[in-house]
Amino acid sequence: MRIGIYGGTFNPIHNTHLEIAKAAKSQYALDKVFFLIAGTPPHKNTAEAVADSCRLEMLSLAISSEKDFYIDDREIYRAGKSYSYITIKELKEEHPNDEIFFIMGSDSLLNFNTWVNPDIISKYSSILVAPRLGDEIEEITSVIEECKSLYEGDFLLINYVANGIASSTVRAGFYKDLSVREALGSQVIDYIIEHNLYNQYNYTYQDVINLSEEMKKELKPGRYNHTLGVASTAYDLAINWNYPAYTAMVAGMLHDCAKCISDEKRLEECAKNNIPVTEIEKEYPHLLHGKVGALYCKEKYQVFDEQIAHAIAVHTTGCPNMNLLDKIIYVADYIEPGRNKQPRLDIIRYMAYTDLDKCVYMILEDSVAYLSENPDMVDPTTIDTYNYYVNYMKEKR
Ligand SMILES: [Fe+2]
Ligand SMILES: [Fe+2]
Repeated sequence: MRIGIYGGTFNPIHNTHLEIAKAAKSQYALDKVFFLIAGTPPHKNTAEAVADSCRLEMLSLAISSEKDFYIDDREIYRAGKSYSYITIKELKEEHPNDEIFFIMGSDSLLNFNTWVNPDIISKYSSILVAPRLGDEIEEITSVIEECKSLYEGDFLLINYVANGIASSTVRAGFYKDLSVREALGSQVIDYIIEHNLYNQYNYTYQDVINLSEEMKKELKPGRYNHTLGVASTAYDLAINWNYPAYTAMVAGMLHDCAKCISDEKRLEECAKNNIPVTEIEKEYPHLLHGKVGALYCKEKYQVFDEQIAHAIAVHTTGCPNMNLLDKIIYVADYIEPGRNKQPRLDIIRYMAYTDLDKCVYMILEDSVAYLSENPDMVDPTTIDTYNYYVNYMKEKR
């Protein structure tokens, strides 16, 4: 068998990656191509950094309909420093009778001599070089010739006309220049939006601690303890469902930030800021603490992430078609460790980590049953949300 290995961080995987893999596969008659996804070096904490598990899920979505494309995730799980020569050597041991082709961009070839043990890589695999935009073919050819003279093994050019897309362009432009999305598969686009990746806000544990100090001053002690429970549960759920964990924690920390103000103040804030108030909210203004909380989140606490504001706005009633963070906060509010009065808590807590939609549906069922005992207090949004999830669960079955 002829096996292609295409290494990269795939942050995120885009169409050029797939085109290069396809070009290499057809030109060199490869039977399979493995996308060898690199681990993230430690201490990389920038807005561009996304969890390894997210890169892995995007890669998996992008190649799901491609025949003969597979993922090799060993470098993500490997302890200690991960070097390509170790992987290539392992692969050769695993496939002693197969030919290995290592696919790399021309930029990687240019500094091939700085890699650790490049001679081992080229000894166990043929190197397939993909040109990048702006490359002069003569220049790559001369680098290839140079490598051939320095190292054992084959260095071959992939016939591929490069376009301008790089992952860094996608990361920088995803929200500012929608045309960069043309470089991505639709499932990857949806994933990035749902998981709030590559946005301009990046929260740290220190942000969470600072907001916790603010909430301690703002909330009554019982509400503050509940808030800590929601924040830490939101963190756990975020890790479980591949959502940026400190973003979820910030949302949890702020979700009830407008809970301990007077009803008059809540109505006043809505009037002042043109926040629509429904009849039921007029009658029971505590229901407005979500909407006012979303306002405070930006105005008082300088947290501008739109997904955080949305999750806070809808946390009391839910809403039809909640996004991932909405669900995380809605569920965390219901299951945090201090809660003990709700029915079916054990199974609902279990579902929170196994089937988030079913968990939301079960919470809505219990909320609607509870509220039916007090029909005047039922917010119509809760009913809309419940009906939406009843249908959603039926369709899912
Ligand atoms: Fe609340
Ligand atoms: Fe709450």
